[in-house]
Amino acid sequence: MDIRMYDLIEKKKRAGELTKDEIFAMIRAYTKGDIPDYQMSAFCMAVWFNGMTDRETFDLTEAMALSGDTVDLSQFGDRSVDKHSTGGVGDKTTLIVAPIVATCGGIVAKMSGRGLGHTGGTVDKLESFEGFKTSLSPEDFTAQVEKIGLAVIGQSGDLAPADKKMYALRDVTATVDTIPLIAASIMSKKLAAGTHSIVLDVKCGSGAFMRTPEDASELAGMMVKIGRAHNRNIAAVITNMNIPLGHAIGNVLEVKEAVEVLKGRGPDDLREICLTLASAMVKLSCGVSIEKAKEMTADALLSGRAYDTFCRWIEAQGGEKEKALDPELFGIAEHTYDIVAERDCYFESCNTEMIGTAAMMLGAGRATADDIIDPRAGIILHKKPSDKLKKGDVIATLHTERPATIEAAAKTFESALQFTDNAVERQPLVFNIIGLD
Ligand code: URA
Repeated sequence: MDIRMYDLIEKKKRAGELTKDEIFAMIRAYTKGDIPDYQMSAFCMAVWFNGMTDRETFDLTEAMALSGDTVDLSQFGDRSVDKHSTGGVGDKTTLIVAPIVATCGGIVAKMSGRGLGHTGGTVDKLESFEGFKTSLSPEDFTAQVEKIGLAVIGQSGDLAPADKKMYALRDVTATVDTIPLIAASIMSKKLAAGTHSIVLDVKCGSGAFMRTPEDASELAGMMVKIGRAHNRNIAAVITNMNIPLGHAIGNVLEVKEAVEVLKGRGPDDLREICLTLASAMVKLSCGVSIEKAKEMTADALLSGRAYDTFCRWIEAQGGEKEKALDPELFGIAEHTYDIVAERDCYFESCNTEMIGTAAMMLGAGRATADDIIDPRAGIILHKKPSDKLKKGDVIATLHTERPATIEAAAKTFESALQFTDNAVERQPLVFNIIGLD
């Protein structure tokens, strides 16, 4: 079908509804380079103002999913399952959830991203293990999944190239923050990645893209509808990102904390979120009730079998097994710096995005795609919002290999914290779950 992009922009500007053929033709032409960026950015802005119908959003997602390579996991039947996080600070859940789910019989064949900005990426965390291969041939990927039920690689091939182009454009034209385009962008990549079931961890709060539970639930609801329209088993958990998850932020620090949880210890909030996500994944991929899934995941974790799967996973992808068995072998960054409470008070709240930025300044993340990460850099939060503080208590320790960054990072970190004289209630960890009934 031949289209005139001008006509489609005009139609959306007047809140009209595009046909499936028009959407597919537009995405095909844009991917090929036949539609210039200035016209696509005008279209995205028209969507920002006028939205899209559900049907248009489903079609846009499908057109973007089919714009490049797609992964075929059909040999795993309905057992394949993916988890997607919309990005948070201290979010090391994949390291824990993936081996739990694989231990329970789910098939986790996953592509993960690198971190950019204030959120970390799973691939960067896995690369803390020297030798860990984040790219595998399709044959090796499948063989590993068959053997241990689990493989995680970096985004490979030409998956949803239309989204890649459009997201870069939206990023510089102030058109990222609109639900149809976010939902289509995320779900196009999930559909192209081929798993039968999908659990979305939609983060909500000061460290996340969606700032309120209402907005996060609306985005999650749309993504669940898209998944169902494309015959996927899908659920979404809306989780709190007003506070970093666990105590550790930064690659090696997060790996160490993930291993603590896999050994049956570690922070309660992290364990609870991981078990919630893992149970949802096991329910969808193993076809059991949510009660049974909760039993199975708790048993996999507490028996140590999930930790055993984790160690086999790291070894299978070429990482150092000794460090999976004893993460203390990673050592710690050369320089540490304590942030100390100046008075007796309560820790009221924090700006999680600024904490993520402070960790990035210390070398734990990237401000631009070319930045180099220091695996051992980051922050340990000894205290978290609602904790009672005594003057002199260590609130956090900054870790870095670059001492010149400490002063500015400490300033950013300190300005992210609020204190009060009054006791503070603990915030919920999970705001809402959609699609598990
Ligand atoms: N993440 C994505 O992949 N796409 C968006 O549009 C927003 C967040």
